[in-house]
Amino acid sequence: MPTALVTGSAGFIGSFVSERLLQDGFRVIGVDAMTDYYEVTLKERRHDRLKAYPEFVPVERYIEEPGMLLELFAKETPDVVVHLAAQAGVRYSIENPRSYLESNIVGTFELLEAGRAHPPKHMLLASTSSAFGANTKMPYREIDKADHQMSFYAATKKSTENMAHSYAHLFGLPITMFRFFTVYGPWGRPDMALFKFTKAILEGKPIDVYNFGDMKRDFTFITDLVEAIRLLIDTPPNPDAPLEDTDVDSLSPVAPWRVVNIGNSQAVQLTEFIEAIEAATGLKAERNLMPMQAGDVPATWADASLLKNLTGYSPRTTVQEGVAQFVSWYRSYYGA
Ligand SMILES: NC(=O)c1ccc[n+]([C@@H]2O[C@H](COP(=O)([O-])OP(=O)(O)OC[C@H]3O[C@@H](n4cnc5c(N)ncnc54)[C@H](O)[C@@H]3O)[C@@H](O)[C@H]2O)c1
Repeated sequence: MPTALVTGSAGFIGSFVSERLLQDGFRVIGVDAMTDYYEVTLKERRHDRLKAYPEFVPVERYIEEPGMLLELFAKETPDVVVHLAAQAGVRYSIENPRSYLESNIVGTFELLEAGRAHPPKHMLLASTSSAFGANTKMPYREIDKADHQMSFYAATKKSTENMAHSYAHLFGLPITMFRFFTVYGPWGRPDMALFKFTKAILEGKPIDVYNFGDMKRDFTFITDLVEAIRLLIDTPPNPDAPLEDTDVDSLSPVAPWRVVNIGNSQAVQLTEFIEAIEAATGLKAERNLMPMQAGDVPATWADASLLKNLTGYSPRTTVQEGVAQFVSWYRSYYGA
């Protein structure tokens, strides 16, 4: 039975990825410190679902703890590593940048050191569409320069891409970096717009709409994202085998390292997203129009043709379908 080590297994994305790997016959070592950035009971409930699988091994520790991951890698020798633990969120990185430094930079360093000592067949690390920063050329392509991050969150994530490249080059570690585009769905994060909007609308409270509603996001539904990750796990980068017939491959010329966008390939207006919540709840939102928030970007839009070239797969869930699934989960989970 292959072993996968998933960091951030009690998180939104990590819990879905872990469950998929358990269903596919992996033993899963799930590392998560259950940080209190948002409600811990939600993380506990996600982990409880995974604990129903006998092959799930929860490890409640901080990844930046010196040598912790090194010891765990020595004991479990994972075949595959999916690194999703991080301090997430653009806005909170203005308030508490140190937690990003510790979880994202030091935590990823510890992970790379563990991989160096006990190399898995493939390590896959989460970066973000925010790495594209101030870029205005749309849709975003992995091979575009991305040097102007707008928040410290994005800066730490872009740094992990560079750190991982050096380890891939020096130690021959096959590494794929994901750039995720606004992931949403059932069990989603309470700090993200869909959760906050749904909660406020159901409670009859106004919603804060930034940049006066002139925002676009490439919204990616969780099960589509998991499918893409599952396929990429079986597609480690090989510097001797670049993709043919394409000019979009981000494969490093000197290392088994590649960065891959996972997005829906559609820039959806925030107003359309809010209308989907209104349709799913049957309620009208009271909009509180606000200026742009510091650190944020007005639009994101993925070119996901590299993902398609590598795996044959393209995310396809519409915002209307995905939002309806979220609202239905939210209502039953919170009895709202
Ligand atoms: N959700 C999105 O839209 C999105 C977009 C781009 C990138 N990402 C990235 O994807 C990954 C997963 O995101 P998510 O939405 O599931 O977030 P999440 O906050 O739900 O999950 C992260 C998990 O990591 C754990 N964690 C945080 N710091 C830790 C530490 N130092 N040690 C051990 N565990 C720690 C948290 O307790 C949490 O359960 C993150 O790396 C995030 O930056 C997410």
